[in-house]
Amino acid sequence: MNFHDLAQARHSVRHYQPHTAIDDAELKAIFDDVLLTPSSFNLQHWQFVVVRDDARKAALRAVSFGQQQVVDAAAAVLVCGRLDAYLDAPRIYADAPEAMRLKALPTIANAYANQPALQREEAVRSGSLAAMALMLAAKGRGWDSGPMIGFDPVQVGALLGLGSNTVPVMLVVLGRALNGQQPARLYRRPLGEVVRLETLDGPPLG
Ligand SMILES: Cc1cc2nc3c(=O)[nH]c(=O)nc-3n(C[C@H](O)[C@H](O)[C@H](O)COP(=O)(O)O)c2cc1C
Repeated sequence: MNFHDLAQARHSVRHYQPHTAIDDAELKAIFDDVLLTPSSFNLQHWQFVVVRDDARKAALRAVSFGQQQVVDAAAAVLVCGRLDAYLDAPRIYADAPEAMRLKALPTIANAYANQPALQREEAVRSGSLAAMALMLAAKGRGWDSGPMIGFDPVQVGALLGLGSNTVPVMLVVLGRALNGQQPARLYRRPLGEVVRLETLDGPPLG
């Protein structure tokens, strides 16, 4: 599927065919593509927790306002962001050209150390991009998906073992739409409202 077709085909699916399995090989194929997502300084702040166990999915639904798709989907993936990803910069840049490494390492340390607001912003930014990549990569392999922020972050964090340096960014459920049925495309703001040329009060595109 080319990108246009992929973008048209993806919907936030809320009703899934229950008892559908997604195996490790399929997840690996999807995540191999997700890992190509860009991130600032290539720090790859994301981590993912894949929940397939029925009892754990039920517990997750209980702290996700009872949203049924959490249990009916084949997997519920918690996309996380790491606040301390910058500490891995020496490893990430170990094989980079020396000039790049010597420039990047102090820049990264200066930017992130003792900057909790930036650490959090970056964790959420990278995690959000990865979540979008996950939905598109899944669709490219025939899986439906749904992003969710309707959950209690503290309880979800406790349930799935997140430490204090990891923030939950988004849940993404993956599965097969019930009876293959895709939701209707919802209203989109018109192009001219959201795309302006040169400055925000410039002329609209189109
Ligand atoms: C950050 C985020 C959080 C969302 N949270 C939920 C959610 O908790 N439950 C839900 O049913 N849909 C959730 N959605 C799905 C949106 O309602 C959906 O993307 C939007 O209505 C547009 O529909 P479409 O994705 O099918 O085009 C969420 C979407 C995003 C991006």
